[in-house]
Amino acid sequence: MVQEMLHATQPRTAGVYLDGTLGACGYAEAILNASCPDSIVVGLDLDPQAICRAQKRLDKYGDRFRAIHGGFHHTRSILEAQSITAIDGAVLDLGLSSDQLESPERGFSFRLQGPLDMRFDNTSGDTALSYLEVISTNKLEEILATYGQERYCKKLARVMLDALNRGDIVTTNDLAQVVSSFMGKRRGRIHPATRTFQALRIAVNREMENLAEGLEQIPEFLQPGARLCVVSYHSLEDRQVKISFRQRGTDRERWKVITPRPLRPSPGEVRENPRARSAVMRVLEASAGPMRGEAL
Ligand SMILES: C[S@@+](CC[C@H](N)C(=O)[O-])C[C@H]1O[C@@H](n2cnc3c(N)ncnc32)[C@H](O)[C@@H]1O
Repeated sequence: MVQEMLHATQPRTAGVYLDGTLGACGYAEAILNASCPDSIVVGLDLDPQAICRAQKRLDKYGDRFRAIHGGFHHTRSILEAQSITAIDGAVLDLGLSSDQLESPERGFSFRLQGPLDMRFDNTSGDTALSYLEVISTNKLEEILATYGQERYCKKLARVMLDALNRGDIVTTNDLAQVVSSFMGKRRGRIHPATRTFQALRIAVNREMENLAEGLEQIPEFLQPGARLCVVSYHSLEDRQVKISFRQRGTDRERWKVITPRPLRPSPGEVRENPRARSAVMRVLEASAGPMRGEAL
């Protein structure tokens, strides 16, 4: 949704922009191009490989682009360390990138054989496998229900942990196989392991907690008139964004919700990139009012 994002954030010259989820840099590059010749983009990603690739891809922008290995949930400390006190716009394009999904060694895909990893930041924290090794059945059931909206969460949690204890789950394919066998006739239209992989990824990366932090911290930096644009890919994320924006929107002196209804990708974009079909964009604007650090 690059065009919609550009339309929403309206990048201008001499601005400072935050891309909280660099990925393959499509959004960051679009902002850099739209705000030539002197705006700055600070780009964050939890994935160190994404940061390396970003540095190479956007090298031609020189000092106008800063890639930082870190999470948008740490926006406050990251921007402070860059001596940035206010920004002219910010974007979050949530979830995982195609690069991550298509790399077997990252363990995000049930279609590709790989280690059961699933970490955005594969330099720290628990892999999905080590996460499963210490989780209780009740907690796993809760995760499958909440983050995967899995109807059969109770039985599936037990089946997964039994298989794990027998040593039958080590790789992505092992997990996909265990879930598929359990689902048997319960199969729906999507691959039976889709919800399980989604739920585990969200839990392992603390995605909902990080989103809540990001939605708390990023708006604090918006100049009057600047916008935060968030693209979500599932209803849980979108709900959290909607509620957060709505709550801010009750303070009309300070915030304006630009999208009472979310924006969706054009049919052309969905044709070109089927993964975009579930994308939903919401935009919040800081109205003229006290900025961060000023007295209310
Ligand atoms: C959908 S991709 C972004 C795609 C990007 N807009 C582009 O144009 O290529 C999401 C990226 O966000 C990163 N990510 C997920 N959670 C994050 C967080 N809390 N902080 C920073 N990056 C995060 C992932 O590692 C992934 O690279």
